[in-house]
Amino acid sequence: MSRVHLAYFSGSGSTAYFAGALADAFRAQGCKVAEERIGAGPAAFGRGAPGGGEGLLVLVFCVHEFNAPHPVRRWIDSLPESRGTAAAVISVSGGGEVSPNRASRRASIAQLEQRGYEVFFEDMAVMPCNFFVEHPDPLPAMLLEAAPATARRFAACMAAREHRRTRPPLLDRVASRLCTGVSGRWSPKFGRSLKATDACTRCGRCASACPMGNITVTDGGPRVGDGCACCLGCVYACPAGALRSASFQTFVLKSGYDIGAYLSRPIPEGAWQRIDKLARGFLWKGVRRYLEQRF
Ligand SMILES: Cc1cc2nc3c(=O)[nH]c(=O)nc-3n(C[C@H](O)[C@H](O)[C@H](O)COP(=O)(O)O)c2cc1C
Ligand code: SF4
Ligand code: SF4
Repeated sequence: MSRVHLAYFSGSGSTAYFAGALADAFRAQGCKVAEERIGAGPAAFGRGAPGGGEGLLVLVFCVHEFNAPHPVRRWIDSLPESRGTAAAVISVSGGGEVSPNRASRRASIAQLEQRGYEVFFEDMAVMPCNFFVEHPDPLPAMLLEAAPATARRFAACMAAREHRRTRPPLLDRVASRLCTGVSGRWSPKFGRSLKATDACTRCGRCASACPMGNITVTDGGPRVGDGCACCLGCVYACPAGALRSASFQTFVLKSGYDIGAYLSRPIPEGAWQRIDKLARGFLWKGVRRYLEQRF
C-alpha cells in the first residue's frame, strides 16, 4: 500500500487534527498521502483514475447523532463506482465506542459497499466533546495527547490489511438508523438561528472555518446560508465570541472549543494512573475505556 487518500469531515477541528495524525503515521511508513476535506462539493477521490485507482481510501468523520454528518453521506454518493477498492472508516466521537455510538460507521460502510468499495477496517477515535457537554479537565488534553499514538496504531493495522469489522448491538443499530437524516433536516434551522452580535469585527474567520462554504461576510456581518451541517466550527472559530444561536445556544460549550488551547493545557502528574477517577460516571464510560485501553 503506497498511496492513501484520506478524506475527512471536521467541524471544530478535532477530526482534522486526528486525520493529520493519521496522515503523518502513513507518511512515516513511506506512503504517499492525499488529504481531502469533505464539504459541500463532490468527492475528489478517483476523479483522475476510473474505478478508484488511488490506493487505499480512508474516510474519517466526527460523529453527529450516532452517525456520520449528512455531508458525508452526500460525499459517498458522489464517489465513482469501484470494483473492490480497499477502504477504511474511522469515526471520531466525544463519547467513545459505547451505546448508542457503536453503529456510527454502519450507514457509511453500507453506502461504500453499495458503491463497490471493500471496507476491511473500522474503528473509533475519541476527541474532546464539542457539543452540549464538556469533558472535565484534564480529559481534553489527555485525548489530544493520545491521538498520535492511536493514529499510528490504526495506520499500522491498515497497512498490514488487518481485518477489523464490528457488529454493533441492535439498540445502537436502531438508534443510528432512526437518526439517519435527522441532522440533514434540522441543521439548516441551526444555521438560520446564527446571528452575529455587535462584537463582530467582520474578520471573516467564521467563513474560513465553515467546511460547507455556507457563510459570507458582508459589511453588514456574516450571512449564513441554508447548507449548514451544525458542526459548530464557525461559532468556536469566532475570536470575539460574536456568533450566537438564537434558539440552540445550549448546544454550544460555554468555554468554547479550541484545539490549540487544549494542547497547551498541562496534564497533571499522575493523571494517566487516575483515568478511572478523572473520567468518572456513566457519561464518560467510553472515554475512560478508550484512554485505559489505548494509551
Ligand atoms: C451536532 C453534533 C452532534 C454530535 N453527536 C454526537 C454523538 O452522537 N455521539 C458522540 O459521541 N459525540 C457527538 N458529538 C461530538 C463530536 O462527535 C465530537 O466532539 C468530535 O470530536 C467533534 O469533531 P470536530 O471537532 O472535528 O467537529 C456531536 C457533535 C455535534 C456538533
Ligand atoms: S468570526 Fe466572529 S468577528 Fe469574525 S466575521 Fe465571523 S462573527 Fe464576525
Ligand atoms: S454555518 Fe457554522 S455550524 Fe453551519 S456548517 Fe458552517 S461552520 Fe458549521
